[in-house]
Amino acid sequence: MSTCKISTNKENLLTLSLNQKQHSLREVEPGGKLIGRVKVPGDKSISHRALLFGSIAEGETTIEGILPAEDPLSTAECLRSMGVKISSIKNDTIVRVEGVGLNGLKEPKEILDCGNSGTTMRLLIGLLVGRIGRHFVLTGDDSLRERPMQRVSQPLRLMGGEVNGRSNGNLAPLAIMGKKLHGAVIGTPVASAQVKSAILLAALTADGETKVIEPTSSRDHSERMLKAFGANLKVSGERGRHISVSPGSKLKGKSIIVPGDISSAAFWLIAGTIIPHSNLTLENVGLNPTRTGILEIMKKMDADFEIIDLKEVAGEPVGNIKVCYNSEIKPFEIESETIPRLVDEVPILTVAACLCKGTSHIRGAGELRVKETDRLKVMTRQLMKMGAEIEEHPDGLTIHGGKQLKGSTLDSETDHRVAMSLAIASLVAEGNSTIARSDAAYISYPNFWNDFEKLRN
Ligand code: S3P
Repeated sequence: MSTCKISTNKENLLTLSLNQKQHSLREVEPGGKLIGRVKVPGDKSISHRALLFGSIAEGETTIEGILPAEDPLSTAECLRSMGVKISSIKNDTIVRVEGVGLNGLKEPKEILDCGNSGTTMRLLIGLLVGRIGRHFVLTGDDSLRERPMQRVSQPLRLMGGEVNGRSNGNLAPLAIMGKKLHGAVIGTPVASAQVKSAILLAALTADGETKVIEPTSSRDHSERMLKAFGANLKVSGERGRHISVSPGSKLKGKSIIVPGDISSAAFWLIAGTIIPHSNLTLENVGLNPTRTGILEIMKKMDADFEIIDLKEVAGEPVGNIKVCYNSEIKPFEIESETIPRLVDEVPILTVAACLCKGTSHIRGAGELRVKETDRLKVMTRQLMKMGAEIEEHPDGLTIHGGKQLKGSTLDSETDHRVAMSLAIASLVAEGNSTIARSDAAYISYPNFWNDFEKLRN
């Protein structure tokens, strides 16, 4: 791996002109390079879990490095509505959660609003379905109310849970009537950490052992953190695909340190790789092996990156990543087995594929169609406006790379990861782009547009 050289070439300076009046519409002028260091914001998945598990633990949980973005704020607000005291969630402050114990969540007077957050809704369903005799109503924004919840409510019904909603319990608003649950052996049809985590949370108060068997392993933050909180949880099987929980042990409040989110670092990993003369250092990136699929693909691309200062922080591997431009990146193939390890990175990897000379394939990615938007469709639609050549398949994409992208009138279509992917694509285009609804980025990366400006040289 070569050592990155910092280029001091000041030609082609990048400039970003923000439309100050309507923050959501941004104009991006291409050219130049990205140089500097970024402290990647806290991991979204770990932030949600720290709030949820801390709430049902006994005693205080402190959370350092929590992601102060809209999605975790939705989780915190729902928990507050059920009587949990959570201090305010701001940048660089330690958040305190006063746990109410496994059975302490109150029946909320209001509807629980999960906003745009699938993780909030799915994990809450699992958490609430076993609160005997208590009633809960959950809803979300336009996007979340169209996302499938059957994948969670169906297995929970096998444990005796009652979840009702539109489309036979598939769509929010959802009503949950808390019931006594019993343990079960449940094979999940999709490798989804949200589904797995919902079942594990329900299992904490069920009668008897519950075992979840995944088709491929999905991110394992719930397993790691539940164990650390004192849950009776065992992981077995190939690549930890069998997870068992037995009830009976109380969770104890903990100090959690949240590493940076590799899914947010992903935008800079690819930007650093494809924007000429770029040289970036990403600090404090979570490197849990169930999340590092993007690094495996970057290796296949011959991207120029290296991990430095690898250490373990609160049970999760963390490191800094140095990345530099490489003019010769190779096309790549992503198969279904790898998808769970990079599921949120497919939009920015699609941008990377447009820059590789040759054809890249993304397969087995049907799950992308049920994210905040149909990300296969939306990325194809937006990048084709820029002149990209992409074929859309039911469960993937074929990207014929190497064509010069052209600036265009783009739209995030309300999806945070689309907004940030289009921002990076706009930097390598010929001509200016505008990105409508660019503030969608705040869902997972509140400082994205500031970092974007800060790194431009
Ligand atoms: C998440 C799991 C993933 C991911 C989402 C966060 C989580 O979804 O796309 O952004 O925190 O568990 P699936 O588990 O449904 O694939």
